[in-house]
Amino acid sequence: MVKTSDRQRVIVVDFGAQYGQLIARRVRDLNVYSEIVPYDVDIATLRADLPAAIILSGGPASVYAKDAPRLNPELLELGVPVLGFCYGMQAMAQVLGGRVAHTDVAEYGPAELTCAPKPSALLAQTPSTQTVWMSHRDSVDELPDGFIHTASTPTTPIASMEDAARGLYATQFHPEVHHTVYGDQMLRNFLFKVARLEPNWKMSSVIDEISAAVRAQVGSDRVILGLSGGVDSSVVAALLAHAIGKQLTCVFVDTGLMRKGEPEQVEAVFSRQFDVDFVQIRAEEQYLAALSRIKEPERKRQIIGSTFWKIFFREAQRLEQDGKPVRWLAQGTIYPDVIESGAYRSGAVAAADGSKATGSRQAATIKSHHNLIPFPKGVHFDLIEPLRNLFKDEVRALGSALGLPDHIVYRQPFPGPGLAIRIIGDVTAEKLAILKDADAIVREEIDAYNERLFEETGVRDSERSVWQYFAVLPDIRSVGVMGDERTYAHPIILRAVESRDAMTADWARLPHELLARISSRVVAEVSGVNRVAYDITSKPPATVEWE
Ligand code: XMP
Repeated sequence: MVKTSDRQRVIVVDFGAQYGQLIARRVRDLNVYSEIVPYDVDIATLRADLPAAIILSGGPASVYAKDAPRLNPELLELGVPVLGFCYGMQAMAQVLGGRVAHTDVAEYGPAELTCAPKPSALLAQTPSTQTVWMSHRDSVDELPDGFIHTASTPTTPIASMEDAARGLYATQFHPEVHHTVYGDQMLRNFLFKVARLEPNWKMSSVIDEISAAVRAQVGSDRVILGLSGGVDSSVVAALLAHAIGKQLTCVFVDTGLMRKGEPEQVEAVFSRQFDVDFVQIRAEEQYLAALSRIKEPERKRQIIGSTFWKIFFREAQRLEQDGKPVRWLAQGTIYPDVIESGAYRSGAVAAADGSKATGSRQAATIKSHHNLIPFPKGVHFDLIEPLRNLFKDEVRALGSALGLPDHIVYRQPFPGPGLAIRIIGDVTAEKLAILKDADAIVREEIDAYNERLFEETGVRDSERSVWQYFAVLPDIRSVGVMGDERTYAHPIILRAVESRDAMTADWARLPHELLARISSRVVAEVSGVNRVAYDITSKPPATVEWE
C-alpha cells in the first residue's frame, strides 16, 4: 500500500458509511488528500502518523441508541483541528459535556441559516443568511464548555458551534452536500484557514508520489499484472510502466469474450504506446471448451474465473523459467473496493481460507475483474495495489494524465465474465459471433448519439445520459419474414441504462429514431437475427445484466 505519512492528509471518521465517501471526495476536490477511517480507529496508530485535520461524518444513529458508534474523546485531543457534521456534531457535544436533545421529529431538506454576529472562521466569506441542507432528528441544545454558537435556523437554534481555541468546529447541517450552497467555502475555510493546509494534491504529484512508493516497495523485483482491458487494470499498467518500466509484465488473456475490436485496442495501446513487457495469450478455444454446454450463470462465472487463473499462473511460471522470480502481483483495487469490502477497517485482506491475513504474502483473495477469486493452492504473490487510495474518477484522471486514450479511460463498465453472461444458455462460437456483431452496431449507434449529446451539453462520462449499453442474445428463436422467405432466427435484446453507480438503474429513454436505426441495422447486417426487442425494466426489480 502507498504510504501516506509524508503527505498532509485529512481523515474522515466514518459514523455511517455512505457519508464518509462523499466528504472525502469533497476534500480531494479541493486538492487535499483525504481518507476514511472507521469511528473506532486505533488512536495509537493515528498518533504515530498524525493527520493534519479530522472530519467527523454524519450517520444515521442517535447518540442515545444503545449500539450507537461512540466518538472516542481522544480524537479531539490530538492537537489537530476537528470538524463535525450532524451526528459528528452531536457526538462531539456529548463527549465534551454539552447536551443533545432527543426528538422524534425529523428535519429534512433545505433550511435558512442565520449566522451569529460574532465572526466564525468556518463561516467566513459566506452570507449572513444562506441555505443549508438538514437531515437529522436529534440536535445539540446545550453547548459544551468553551464553545460558542455560531449560527441557527428556525428549528435548530444551535445549527453550528465552535471552540476556536481548541480547534473544534461543528455543524448540524451538511456542508458536504451541494444543496448547502456555501458548503464548499466552509470546507475551504476549515482546510486552508483553520488547518492551514496547502491545496497541493494534484494528479501530477499523485503520479510522482505513487511511482516513488512503488519503486521503494518492489525495488528491482519483477511484477506481473493481469490486464483485462478495463479502466482499473489499464491505469495500473500505465502507472507501473511509468514507475518501473520493463520490470512489469502485463499478461493479457484474450478470452474471446470481449466486445468486438477490444482485444486489438488493448494490444495496440500496451504493445506500442507503453514500454512494458506485453504478453497476449489467445485463449478463446480454451474458454469455449470449458464453457461447453454450461447454462447456469454462476457456473459460467466460476469457470471463467478459474480458467483465467489457470492460464495466468501458467504464464507466471513460464516467465520464471529465465531464472528471475516474479514476486509481485499488481492489481487494480480502487478505494471504493477497499471501503465496500470493509478492508479499511483493519487494513487486512481476507485469506483464502476465510481467516484474516497477517502478512501480505498470505493475502490471497484477489479482485479478478471485480470478482474475488482465491489463489490456487500453493501459489503466493505479494500484492501491490497502487490505486488503492483513489476514487474511480481520480483513476480516470490519472489514466488520462498518463496518456491512456479516451476509449480506455472512459470505457463503460463491462462484466469480468464478458459476453458469456450476455448469451443466455450455453455459449458457442456461432452465438458469440452473432452477439459481437450485433453489439458492435449497438455500440456504434449509441456512441454516436452520446457524442452528439456531449457536443450539445459539454458533459461526458458518469454524467452521460446513457451509461451502459449492450446487446443480449437470448436462448430463443422467433418467426420472421425476409424477402419471400420465412425465417426462424434469434432476437437480439437491446439493453441501455442510465445509472450513476450500477446499484440502481433505469432504462434509457432513447429517441425512437435511434431505436429504429439500431433495429434495422442489426437485422439487416447480422445474419441469424430477425428481431430486436428493447428491455424497458429498471433495476430493481431487474438487474443491468441478464445473467
Ligand atoms: P447487475 O447486473 O448486477 O450489474 O445489475 C451491475 C453492474 O455490474 C456489472 N456486472 C459485473 N461485473 N463481474 C463484473 O465485473 C460480474 O460478474 C458482473 N455482473 C454484472 C454490470 O455490467 C453492471 O455494470
